Amino acid sequence: MTDIAAVKAVLGRIQEPLLGKSLADLGWLQDLSLTAAGVLRVHITPGYAGAGAVLAPLMQAAVAGLGVGELQLDEKAVIPRAAPQGGLPALERVKNVIAVASGKGGVGKSTTAVNLALALSAMGAKVGVLDADIYGPSQPMMLGLPAGTKPGVKDQAWFLPVLAHGIEVMSIGFLLDSDSTPVVWRGPKATGALLQLLTQTLWGDLDFLVVDMPPGTGDIALTLAQKVPVAGAVIVSTPQDIALLDAKKGIEMFRKVGIPVLGVVENMALHVCSACGHADAVFGEGGGERMAREYETVLLGQLPLERQIREQADGGRPTVVAAPDSPAAQHYFSIARQTGAAVARLARTDPKRINIVFE
Ligand SMILES: Nc1ncnc2c1ncn2[C@@H]1O[C@H](COP(=O)(O)OP(=O)(O)OP(=O)(O)O)[C@@H](O)[C@H]1O
Ligand SMILES: [Mg+2]
Repeated sequence: MTDIAAVKAVLGRIQEPLLGKSLADLGWLQDLSLTAAGVLRVHITPGYAGAGAVLAPLMQAAVAGLGVGELQLDEKAVIPRAAPQGGLPALERVKNVIAVASGKGGVGKSTTAVNLALALSAMGAKVGVLDADIYGPSQPMMLGLPAGTKPGVKDQAWFLPVLAHGIEVMSIGFLLDSDSTPVVWRGPKATGALLQLLTQTLWGDLDFLVVDMPPGTGDIALTLAQKVPVAGAVIVSTPQDIALLDAKKGIEMFRKVGIPVLGVVENMALHVCSACGHADAVFGEGGGERMAREYETVLLGQLPLERQIREQADGGRPTVVAAPDSPAAQHYFSIARQTGAAVARLARTDPKRINIVFE
């Protein structure tokens, strides 16, 4: 007869790989029960979405030999709030704003942001996307919203976010007349409009709001980094050295305003031939890793340059939605877990930040 207390003790000693603490210390283990047939049911409340996929094999291995057959794991992530930079007041209904940024344009920032948002959502988090890229708002198109989509308005004071693939969306593009209107706003006007979009939208109770930032480190990006209450930034870069140099400027900008850099995503790191599947590191290997090391941050993941990633995003069904079982989508899921874990680490361990909780 298996002793459930012994099982619980063994599970409690498992080191959570992304947070580096034991499950007992993290307090994630909730109900445990063992049926006569040896089925172990475990309910966990992890601090990041998608932890179950990481933990299930570890749990299975840990209880092997204790008379446990099947493991049934159910999870309900309880995502903590990481306080924003510089004592800025947090958004009441949004636990964590994640800024997705790049040192320069065209590196795949929007594609990464939308797939990150959809992956977090698919793994159980409540998610919104704010498209803050005034130079090239592309979230509505990538999320399959028809041209001319406008947010609802409530009481003449609030925007109602548009829903797409289960996430809430607001875009600076909704406020432009057509997809092709070039944005000629000067800095203050553009940042004012963006801050208004952020604060005057009736977001649902969100775990994460992913902000697709304007590229670069110019005035608009810097002003947003100072004024938007951000939990952490994800920097997207391509492997070319020049892009990496730009990405470093991005990292430095966030550091300067006190926003933690959650990590770096290296996009288009390998070219996967659509004919033969051969993977080739066209721009050389290891750039993202080197940069992460040098800047004391982490590489959240590497994405291949793959025709389908572009076609799926252009077609309004990003990879995570269009082909959730594909290797590319698995990269996005992994990046989303790493990102969520980085936020959970911040919420647990940053004593310099006062964690204001509104709930
Ligand atoms: N890993 C990838 N594989 C193939 N195509 C990709 C990948 N990532 C992005 N793309 C494509 O590259 C182009 C640029 O990507 P995206 O629009 O996400 O970049 P961006 O950094 O947001 O650019 P911008 O500065 O114009 O906003 C898009 O056509 C997109 O579909
Ligand atoms: Mg973009």
